[in-house]
Amino acid sequence: MADTIKITTLDNGLFLVMGAVTLTDAEGQLFHPERELIALCRCGTFTNRPFCDGTHAKIGFQSSERVV
Ligand code: FES
Repeated sequence: MADTIKITTLDNGLFLVMGAVTLTDAEGQLFHPERELIALCRCGTFTNRPFCDGTHAKIGFQSSERVV
């Protein structure tokens, strides 16, 4: 069985991706292929696309989805 990839939505913040993933842009260019822990922006106000740079805290982004 392949290693499990875990993606967690953090309250009022980012997507935390844990595991060996390959992240590419629309043209297939790799972002940080060697990392196994990455933070992806969920608030849409990032300046370091597609990664979270902490801006969500400054703008008061709010979101706390739960499984229903
Ligand atoms: S979620 Fe952190 S900058 Fe968007």
